[in-house]
Amino acid sequence: MHRAKARERGKPKVSGAALRDEGKQTEEQAERHCGIKGSINYGRNGVKTRIIGTGSCLPGTVVTNDDLSKVMDTSDEWISSRTGIRERHLVKEETTASMSVEAAKRAMKDAGVTAEEIDLIILGTVSADFVTPACACEVQAAIGATNAVAFDINAACAGFMFALNIANAYIQAGIYRTALILGAETLSKIVDWEDRSTCVLFGDGAGAAVVRGDEQYGLLAFDQGSDGTKGDVLACPGRTNNNPLIQTDQRLGFVHMDGQEVYKFAVTTVPASLQKTIETAGLMPKDIDYFALHQANIRILQSVSKRLHIGEDKFPISLDHCGNISAASVPILLDEMNRKGLLKPGMKVALSGFGGGLTWASAVLEW
Ligand code: ACO
Repeated sequence: MHRAKARERGKPKVSGAALRDEGKQTEEQAERHCGIKGSINYGRNGVKTRIIGTGSCLPGTVVTNDDLSKVMDTSDEWISSRTGIRERHLVKEETTASMSVEAAKRAMKDAGVTAEEIDLIILGTVSADFVTPACACEVQAAIGATNAVAFDINAACAGFMFALNIANAYIQAGIYRTALILGAETLSKIVDWEDRSTCVLFGDGAGAAVVRGDEQYGLLAFDQGSDGTKGDVLACPGRTNNNPLIQTDQRLGFVHMDGQEVYKFAVTTVPASLQKTIETAGLMPKDIDYFALHQANIRILQSVSKRLHIGEDKFPISLDHCGNISAASVPILLDEMNRKGLLKPGMKVALSGFGGGLTWASAVLEW
């Protein structure tokens, strides 16, 4: 089905190797993307925004590639060899809000902060349960964060990273001190379960982090960008208009993706953005202890590792057991790293989220 879509758009099918070569042709474009505004270096004077606690929540039901192969024409071999994904968690009872609330409680417990201490809740999602109220407001109510202002943002797979930078801006400006930031998705309700080229890639879950101003460690540099001209390569339409003037069948859209275009975007823009952010932080790629990147596809992570000349062992993964959970990928990965004890105070960690919009954001921080 995906191939048919590519043909419709007049784009020839290319192999993985060809994709990597084509990726090189757009490096210049990636440099331009990442060079327009330049990365921002934070924390030179005074307070830095530091992640002081993490939490995550995955639905209870695990669906393996073999399980999928029983209900659609696919195989563990096809999925795992192209993506690195072996299984994903899908909701039955859980909702975007219920997973967010659980992740938030775990992050607050890890951080040792009470709900009353939270000034700000920002939640990145493309699959909230309601158009309004915002999922962040549902979280606020459930955890009793009565002093917080709460809102959602839509930056797709970069949503958590955008939330981090917004929280950082508030903290740097001295407006708020403590923020709860989340990425949460129920992608299984917006993928087309008849499109095997996309539905096998995604999973459900939520991740959260508590951030606070700190005088010692925290965010060193950030790079953020968007390219709305390429929005169609990874899109999910909203509901159609059914007002009395238009009279259409009301429909909800599903995710559709030009996987090869997304691959080219990711393997050029992400390493360029990371490189720039690392330089802005006054570091070199070899100084980074871990690269915690959006978990879209193992091939993208391998390509970024190669382009930065950094071993794959510095790129922890969760996509093998989670699939791609869009805005939730980065905070879930961070929480797994945190719980495994991989992260020590002062360690240098690079983060990057990238996806629909197109949007991307990278950060370098001291843990
Ligand atoms: N099982 C078995 N066969 C499949 C499946 C499946 N699940 N899906 C597609 N196929 C078939 C197609 O029908 C096609 O068959 P044909 O050659 O007989 O026509 C063949 O496999 C190749 O299909 P393509 O869609 O061209 O697959 P491609 O090689 O491009 O791989 C993939 C797809 C893995 C998604 C690739 O494009 C990719 O790595 N993209 C990177 C982007 C990405 O991972 N996006 C994730 C979400 S976006 C984000 O988070 C930023």
